Amino acid sequence: MKTYNVAVVGATGAVGEEIIRIFEEIDFPLNRLVPLASSRSAGGKITFKGKDLVIKELTETVFDEENIEIALFSAGGSVSAKFAPFAAEAGAVVIDNTSHFRMEDDVPLVVPEVNPEDIAQWRNRGIIANPNCSTIQMVQSLKPLDDAFDLIRVDVATYQATSGGGKTAMEELVTQMKDFFNFTLNDSPHVKFPHQIALNLIPQIDVFMDNGFTKEEMKMVSETSKIMHKNIEVAATCVRVPVLRGHSESLTMTFDSAVSADEARTLLEKAPNIIVIDNPQKSQYPMPANCVDQNETFVGRIRNDLYREEVLHMWIVADNLRVGAATNAVRIAQKWVEMEGGS
Ligand SMILES: NC(=O)c1ccc[n+]([C@@H]2O[C@H](COP(=O)([O-])OP(=O)(O)OC[C@H]3O[C@@H](n4cnc5c(N)ncnc54)[C@H](OP(=O)(O)O)[C@@H]3O)[C@@H](O)[C@H]2O)c1
Repeated sequence: MKTYNVAVVGATGAVGEEIIRIFEEIDFPLNRLVPLASSRSAGGKITFKGKDLVIKELTETVFDEENIEIALFSAGGSVSAKFAPFAAEAGAVVIDNTSHFRMEDDVPLVVPEVNPEDIAQWRNRGIIANPNCSTIQMVQSLKPLDDAFDLIRVDVATYQATSGGGKTAMEELVTQMKDFFNFTLNDSPHVKFPHQIALNLIPQIDVFMDNGFTKEEMKMVSETSKIMHKNIEVAATCVRVPVLRGHSESLTMTFDSAVSADEARTLLEKAPNIIVIDNPQKSQYPMPANCVDQNETFVGRIRNDLYREEVLHMWIVADNLRVGAATNAVRIAQKWVEMEGGS
């Protein structure tokens, strides 16, 4: 059986560390794992399957030198913009977690449970893009319902964890919580977020566009249609919440035909990598605290609208570092190996 040399670019980051943990957990045809980061971390070590691996510096030539066949990038958009083409030129398939290539026509944007067939387009540029964390868990949940009832519109409010902003963003929340207990929260600095995040909610993720939506909200709009291959109206309000890990979303979906909550629940129970937790009488529903380190998207609070039979509401939660980033990237790699590997 063929095995692969895999580079993890951004190996010391929140997403990169999670990718490496997943490779420890699953049975992937891995020959060699090569952790890459900036010169700040190069020379340091990570532990992989009980052995120390030296972190190498990301350079233009490292993919060629290390004979890399699969390169998973999560080191920021500008890093992908500069270095992903070198990886592709060296013959590797790039799976990119950043937003840099997502909306380019010749780059497939893939959620394996939704549009695995698009992986075949990787040959255009040698690059496959991983969608935004909030989009991934949403389209995974929408797909089985769209297949059955023909989705027209989604109104979504997100409740996004601080880890969506990387390691330093998580640290900012922890520092502010400590400062609260030391009675110094008012003096606590905020760098990653535009306001204090501890004991607060911030209805802004990324910058505002001219249309009044934020860039994060517009990513959910454009990425959803690209992945699902149909025009779906999406209205998103993305909110940063003082949670470390796990993005939650409240969805209101409008279909072309009448939809029943019971039928929707049955379809979601059968859908890949979805777990339904929906027993409100026992206060059982998905919550971020229960999704950490999990590779599934959790769905609950499935209920019909009070006024319109074609409208359904539900609540979904997933670990943004896993489902929203690392797990999806590794699943793309697994699917790529299955479809294209060795050819
Ligand atoms: N967090 C999420 O939920 C999430 C979800 C989907 C996508 N993403 C995307 O994934 C990317 C990384 O996110 P993250 O949350 O893991 O960030 P992070 O915790 O801040 O980690 C950033 C990583 O990138 C490396 N890096 C930074 N500049 C570099 C350079 N010039 N050359 C090589 N490596 C460099 C860092 O290495 P050093 O140790 O050397 O600094 C570190 O390993 C971002 O583009 C983000 O938008 C994140």
